[in-house]
Amino acid sequence: MTPGSTIEVKDPHSFSRPQEATVTHLQLNLKVDFESKTLVGSVTYQIQKTPHATRIILDVHNLLIQAVETNYSPGSFRLSSPQVYLGQALEIDVEPDTHEITIHYQTTPGSAALQWLEPRQTANGQFPFLFTQSQAILARTWLPCQDSPAVRFTYEARIQVPAGYLALMSAENPQELSTTGEYTFSMPHPIPFYLMALAVGRLQFCAVGPRTGIYAEPPTLASAAFEFNQMEGMLQAAENLYGEYPWGRYDLLVLPPSFPFGGMENPCLTFATPTIITGDRSLTSLVAHELAHSWSGNLVTNATWNDFWLNEGFTVYFERRIMERLYGPDYAAMLQVLGQQDLQKTLQELGPNNPDTCLKLNLINRDPDEGLTEIAYEKGNLFLLTLEKVVGRTRFDAFVNYYFASFKFKSNTTENFLLFMSDFFAPEKEIIAEQVKPEIWVYQPGLPEVAIAVKSARFKLVAEKVAVWRQYPEPAVLGTPTWSTHEWLYFLQLLQSHVDAACMEKLDAAFQFTNSGNAEILALWLEIALQTGYTNINEKLEEFLGRVGRRKFVLPLYKLMTSKPEYKALAPAIYAKARPNYHAVTRQSIDKLLEFK
Ligand code: BES
Ligand code: ZN
Repeated sequence: MTPGSTIEVKDPHSFSRPQEATVTHLQLNLKVDFESKTLVGSVTYQIQKTPHATRIILDVHNLLIQAVETNYSPGSFRLSSPQVYLGQALEIDVEPDTHEITIHYQTTPGSAALQWLEPRQTANGQFPFLFTQSQAILARTWLPCQDSPAVRFTYEARIQVPAGYLALMSAENPQELSTTGEYTFSMPHPIPFYLMALAVGRLQFCAVGPRTGIYAEPPTLASAAFEFNQMEGMLQAAENLYGEYPWGRYDLLVLPPSFPFGGMENPCLTFATPTIITGDRSLTSLVAHELAHSWSGNLVTNATWNDFWLNEGFTVYFERRIMERLYGPDYAAMLQVLGQQDLQKTLQELGPNNPDTCLKLNLINRDPDEGLTEIAYEKGNLFLLTLEKVVGRTRFDAFVNYYFASFKFKSNTTENFLLFMSDFFAPEKEIIAEQVKPEIWVYQPGLPEVAIAVKSARFKLVAEKVAVWRQYPEPAVLGTPTWSTHEWLYFLQLLQSHVDAACMEKLDAAFQFTNSGNAEILALWLEIALQTGYTNINEKLEEFLGRVGRRKFVLPLYKLMTSKPEYKALAPAIYAKARPNYHAVTRQSIDKLLEFK
């Protein structure tokens, strides 16, 4: 397929049939009611359809549909019977001249994208807070939509919130409070529905650059603005690599700690967990990652969730190029090695022949949430690194630039990507067939033999120090004063299978891991403590699981607890208390693990 033409694919996770009738523009009208915890209002869509289309199909899930209009007159609709995770098809009858449809609706307690936070779950402790998380298929739980990443639309929104609250969306955003509590938004570029986002809270803005800034609750704002003060530098590095930033502003919203992910690349406004605020700017690669999605993901989008690696693999690659520009190759190499360790862990967990370890996924009849793993990120990245090594960085960068330029504001499938790639690299055809073997990466499980090795000189030093320390177990021989967060993480990974509880106690006395203010270090330390039976962490473990809802941290901890007789009973007890603090995405995973009813 040539760039520029629309991809026609069957998306197994949407009822919609965009080839028959599709939405092109959205006008969203919502009132945010913190008392009843509902969004109430309407969506109006401009639509485009084939001349013979008699209906347009939207996705809805746990929404209350009140009425439908077509061209501003009462219309008729049908809802199919609900299916797990997919929800329902909302079929609206259309006439040949129908160009606009309106749906009046409200959300329900089952609207899984939404997390309504009680005041105590926020930094200020006094006011409620609302945020959405739409990826992968949760947009349909807060607005009727064609919830396939291959469908794109522009939007405007009017959001009514109580006075004193700020509303923010994946669009051009306000920096000041409105006295009436009414906010309007506009997204002039076509985006897919999984990038629809809304947050409402007692938020303030602080600029960190000419087109970058931070939104956070006042108690968090100063530390966040310090932590992320290099956002303009990241943006410039990204633009120097792969072309002009197409979205206007790039701001960051720091959410309360129950946010289920590290970050979410909502256009113009990345949503982020506060657990990357460390005081030393050591976890900011996450911001580079979400920023990179402005190109890989938001500009050029995976056509279905089976092509998820196109979003995440490219983004991890791009993220590390940004970090390399800002902090040098030694720094980026540490990120690569830590990523490789995560990949090895995931490959081990999933097993060598597991089809979920192919880049191209098959998520038909499955909740995409279950199949989207580290594979897309780190195997995808390693594929691109291997290609880069074989064709050389100059050629590789020319390819990526041409790829983004060719598919901007479009969706792409893996198959089409492979065609595009082989066209571009026609002169390198043979060497790529021999030394990269793209089809093996994409369609075979596990790690291809041709994968390049990533190495870090700084980690080599850590490993050498650790070898000495094993002979002379004095903390001083490790030379830790020069270590960054990454070196500490590498150290803990090295330790993992070689320590017992007694050794853990000594390490804790020397380095205060249990009191670490760095969530990455603390989460890994808690894991190792659970593995080795070092019980001094118990209080901290409960506090952490009660406060933080980031799934990547909490799920492995609950998993470990269920595998240890000493913790088997404790896990459900801790969870029963912590569960109300978790977003539906995290709850769903842990409910399943603990068979919570
Ligand atoms: N887009 C993802 C988050 C996501 C993926 C949400 C799939 C729902 C379904 C985001 O860009 C991401 O990858 N976040 C990572 C951080 C990143 C640095 C690897 C996360 O949240 O941990
Ligand atoms: Zn990502």
